[in-house]
Order: sequence, then structure tokens, then C-alpha cells
Amino acid sequence: MTRIVISGASGDLAGRVTQQLLAEDPRRELTLVTRTPAKIEVEGPNVSVRRGNFERPELFDEAYRGGDILLLVSGLNLGRRTTEHRSAIDAAKRAGIRHVVYTSVGGVQPGNPALSAIDHLETERDLRTSGLAYSILRNALYAEIVSAIWLAPAAREGVLEMATGYGSLAPVSKVDVARAATSILTSPDRHVDTVYEITGPELLSMTEIVRLGSEVFETPISYRPVSERERLAFFDSVGMPRTYDPDMPPNPEGHMWASDELVSADLAVARGYQALLSGHVEQITGQAPASLRSVLESVKGLRYDRIGSAS
Ligand SMILES: NC(=O)c1ccc[n+]([C@@H]2O[C@H](COP(=O)([O-])OP(=O)(O)OC[C@H]3O[C@@H](n4cnc5c(N)ncnc54)[C@H](OP(=O)(O)O)[C@@H]3O)[C@@H](O)[C@H]2O)c1
Repeated sequence: MTRIVISGASGDLAGRVTQQLLAEDPRRELTLVTRTPAKIEVEGPNVSVRRGNFERPELFDEAYRGGDILLLVSGLNLGRRTTEHRSAIDAAKRAGIRHVVYTSVGGVQPGNPALSAIDHLETERDLRTSGLAYSILRNALYAEIVSAIWLAPAAREGVLEMATGYGSLAPVSKVDVARAATSILTSPDRHVDTVYEITGPELLSMTEIVRLGSEVFETPISYRPVSERERLAFFDSVGMPRTYDPDMPPNPEGHMWASDELVSADLAVARGYQALLSGHVEQITGQAPASLRSVLESVKGLRYDRIGSAS
């Protein structure tokens, strides 16, 4: 039997993948690698939990031991994480893992201003030259983020102000990202050396997204594109740090991001790097991805950090 290793196992996406894998086969051989083993409540006759942390690469040899395929959930330390991912890939090789499934982001290419895309580009290159089989999931923006972080506050204010210009995007539900990852982990031979654009089913302009938000949140919301400088000034005014700090407390929406990353992601939308639509979710899973409207209807009113347990 194939042993699947899940990195970052206490996270939302990794947790969803773990649940799907065990729902399909409760006897699945799984190694759950996490910084916080105490948070893992998963049980199964062939499940083991091991400690792993990108900041402590010496743990990975033991953490990945006996594994055949690894879900490498990208880390959060912008800039530093390329080195962290490289250590994880090297350790996977030493441990005899044959295939790595990696969570990247849509629009990864030189010139993309999103700070996260710059990191992912480097890790994608490392994977391609690692000698391991790889599957790269270039995930579009999570539809759950559009609901909780974009539209819910905009519904309270009556306006969505972002530096996304007149760009468009195809938000995808984390449920579908998890389904795609699960399918690949359970049939890796069909996905050797692949790069997938994991998008939702529709490419939507910012205006269309706001129109959908107005309908689902049942209140008028307008869209006002703002400059990079205005967007940064807004985040400064609510006390968000410009750069990511792993120790910063979560804000009321329950996430821990920094404004330089968020604004750079806005600019990537404005400059067309997220204007991608693919049929890869359906191709991989056999099931069409959820529409943004259906995700908004199922998670509206929920804080971002509460969506995982509710949906
Ligand atoms: N497409 C999008 O819209 C979008 C938006 C935001 C983020 N993302 C990416 O998607 C990934 C998964 O999202 P999510 O919603 O599951 O995030 P999440 O619930 O916040 O989970 C974060 C993940 O990162 C892992 N992690 C953090 N620091 C780590 C470290 N030092 N060493 C090892 N693992 C570490 C955590 O693992 P443990 O705590 O178990 O160790 C956890 O799995 C994120 O890592 C991020 O790169 C995508």
C-alpha cells in the first residue's frame, strides 16, 4: 500500500484532504506532519502523526520516513519559504518519497507582482529539477476569502475598495482544491510531472464579483478601484503590519497576513495574472467545481477561520 505524507497537517486545506482520504478508505496509510501534533484529532489504524516544521529541517528525515508521496502545503514565511521548501524537497528525496504534490498559486510566471507568486515560482523550479515526480496545484484565489475577507466587510461598508483594478479571476472553493489534491494523491501515476490551474468554473470581473456579493449578502455593494498607495494606507490605518511576522496576533477576521502581500496580490489581479480559467478540477476529480455564488451562499456570515469546520 502507498503511504501518503501530509505536511502542515493541522491546517485547513491539509485537514480537508486528510478527511477525504480517510472517508474514502479508513485504513489508508497516512503520515500527518505538523508543528503541533496535539492539534491533530484524526484517528485511523494506519495513521501516524509526526513533528515537522519548515524552520527545523532536521525533523523532516524522520517525519517523511516510509512515505511514498508527499502533499507539500506551502509555508507562510514569505521570502524565507523558498529555502524552507527546498529543505523539505531534499528531505523527501532522502526519505525515498517518489512524488510531491505542491500547493502553488495561479499566475506563477516572471513579472507577476504578487510576492507569493515570486516564492512559488522558485519552488516550482526546484521541484522540476529535483528528480522527483511532481504535481503542482496552482490554486486560484480561494472563494472563501472572497466571501469572508472581500465581500463580508464590503457588505457592511457598502463598497469594496481594492487595488485590483479592472482585472478578473476565477475563485475556487477550498473544497475543490482539497478534492483535486486528494485525487492526485490517490492516483499519482496519472499525474506525473503535471502543472494544474485549479480554478473555479467562471472567470469573473471585479464588478461581477461585487454584483454577486450584493445579491447574496442582500445589500447594495459598489466597487471602487483604488491605487496601491491608497490600499496600503487603508491597511496601515487598521494596524496591519506591512510585512509578515509569524508571531503577530490574528486580526478580527482570523487571518495573519501582511499588507505588502495583500496589495501585491491585488496588483496581480489588476495586471491580468489571475485571469485564468481551466477545466482542470473537473478533469482531475470528475466533478465540476462549485460556483462562486454557491460558495458565498454556503459560507456567508462566517469568519474566514470558522469556514473550515463549517463547510
Ligand atoms: N489560493 C489562495 O487564495 C490562498 C490564500 C492563502 C493561502 N494560500 C496557501 O494555501 C496554503 C494552505 O492554506 P490553508 O487555508 O490550509 O492555510 P492554514 O489553515 O492557515 O494552514 C497553514 C498551513 O501552513 C503550515 N505551516 C505554517 N508554518 C509552517 C512551518 N513553519 N512549517 C511547516 N508547516 C507550516 C501549517 O501547518 P501546521 O500548523 O500543521 O504545522 C498549515 O498547514 C497556505 O499554506 C498558503 O500558502 C492560498
